[in-house]
Amino acid sequence: MDIHSWSRPDEVQVRHLELDLDVHFDRKILTGAATLHFDPTSHPELVLDTRDLEIHSVENAAGFEVGARDPILGAPLRIRLTPGCSWVRVNYSTSPNASGLQWLDPAQTAGKRMPFLYTQSQAIHARSWIPLQDSPAVRITFEGRVRTSNGLSAVMAAERAGNHFRMRHPVPSYLIALAAGDLEFRSLGERCGVFAEPSLVDAARREFADTEAMIRAVEEMFGPYRWGRYDLLVLPPSFPFGGMENPCLTFATPTILAGDKSLVALVAHELAHSWSGNLVTNATWSDFWLNEGFTVYIEGRIIEKVYGQDRYAMEATLARRELDREMESLPESDRVLYLPLAGRDPDDGCTLVPYQKGALLLRTLEREVGRDRFDAFLRSYFDHFAFRSISTAEFLNYFRTELSTTVPLDEWIYSPGIPASAAEPYSDAFTCVETAASRWRNGETIDTSRWSTQEWLHFLRVLEKPDLARLEAEFHLSRTGNAEILSQWLAMSIQAQFEPGLALLDSFLCSVGRRKFLKPLYSELLKTPEGAERARSIYRRARPGYHPIAQHTIDGLVFADR
Ligand code: BES
Ligand code: ZN
Repeated sequence: MDIHSWSRPDEVQVRHLELDLDVHFDRKILTGAATLHFDPTSHPELVLDTRDLEIHSVENAAGFEVGARDPILGAPLRIRLTPGCSWVRVNYSTSPNASGLQWLDPAQTAGKRMPFLYTQSQAIHARSWIPLQDSPAVRITFEGRVRTSNGLSAVMAAERAGNHFRMRHPVPSYLIALAAGDLEFRSLGERCGVFAEPSLVDAARREFADTEAMIRAVEEMFGPYRWGRYDLLVLPPSFPFGGMENPCLTFATPTILAGDKSLVALVAHELAHSWSGNLVTNATWSDFWLNEGFTVYIEGRIIEKVYGQDRYAMEATLARRELDREMESLPESDRVLYLPLAGRDPDDGCTLVPYQKGALLLRTLEREVGRDRFDAFLRSYFDHFAFRSISTAEFLNYFRTELSTTVPLDEWIYSPGIPASAAEPYSDAFTCVETAASRWRNGETIDTSRWSTQEWLHFLRVLEKPDLARLEAEFHLSRTGNAEILSQWLAMSIQAQFEPGLALLDSFLCSVGRRKFLKPLYSELLKTPEGAERARSIYRRARPGYHPIAQHTIDGLVFADR
């Protein structure tokens, strides 16, 4: 049972979807039809998930009714079936505020001349643009046809032939994705490439030049890439996530285009989901750590293989510190891997815990059983559960049939905190940076000319209450083109009320919509009355440009006391 879906796949399970959509940029709606195919059934009713959809008619059915809207789940669409039927067609349109769609005005794009649309279905937003059984336990194949009102090209995360799309492998609904905008394509290799707006596409091609090497790296460890092509789509900066692992077509924020490939761990991460997540999928959102913990583990293995141990150790060390920091701010009950979500929006469970605590568990298991045996286990796990959705309990059963361990699995999964047995990252990764930081604190000049993004981030994070004017004079951090470093710098500027940094905050928060950056910056502002005033003033102007998902998150911070 998936508590986040009205559907009853135990009664009737949809197997295939035909989607026929028109994109109306003028009215900010999609109109069209979803034809759902299932095994012939005598069950009297098919229940679908919807949120803010207008249902015009249902063909090949005896009637339909839209139930009451739940604030988290949306509304059930109850379709009365005729005996022995095996398909229905729902004619519908979306709402301009669909939670899974972002409609961008030309001003929010790089080119400033054409509008842009993209979908974000994870966790339970597919239902806001397609009526379907919106549970990760239900897998369907699909075909899509998409037309746009202004001739802009549309892409779906699937095999592509013109405006016709096809997904031959059964996928969960949260992986169905669509985008339309002024897009150009550059090839990155035989089976990979990148779509982006024309002014960004060559920078994206250079940034992602190692993609094919990353695919080969995972294949060597965990078996073949089974999805045909692997392409990337660079979205406008309001995209609320770093990346989204839509099959065949990862969606990515432009804030990873640093110019030096230093932020491509995000590509490694989304690519890794082609195994952990897309091939073997969490059955419910409480099992989300099966998607993300495994993916962060594989991401690290890719980084180690393609960029070397030092780079891996730095990324793991940064992440480990971020996990500790975030865990402190979470209630104990949210520090577990298997997360009970009754009455909650699954998006609220998206903390660093499933990601980093999950990865830490896998590294701990790897250390105990040895890398060769652990790799063999993972490979067999992906083969065994390929194209299936599984629960934490199923993972545990399978693990225990394949390997034995002294690692306290139940404690890791069901208890808060990090067990003492955790395999901590290599602690010397930043020794040089830490030495430089203490020398800098003593007033010496230091050589930072060969520092990577990771070294800069660590440096800034270990300096306690530094003199920001001196940092700025020496290192010109306000001028960095690297969004990670800039957001760290902005957070420090808020803390120290450093005016030159604060001056940049407005334009950053009004153009970038990535939640990872918004959350810490707004939270930092909200710590003081003057900051809160600034936060409200910026948010008033920035909010219309944010994705509904980011609006929801930041509303919760800024309007917490109302
Ligand atoms: N699948 C997630 C994004 C997601 C999670 C969307 C939950 C909606 C609900 C994606 O793979 C992801 O984890 N993105 C991270 C990047 C990663 C490198 C940690 C992000 O967006 O920050
Ligand atoms: Zn992920």
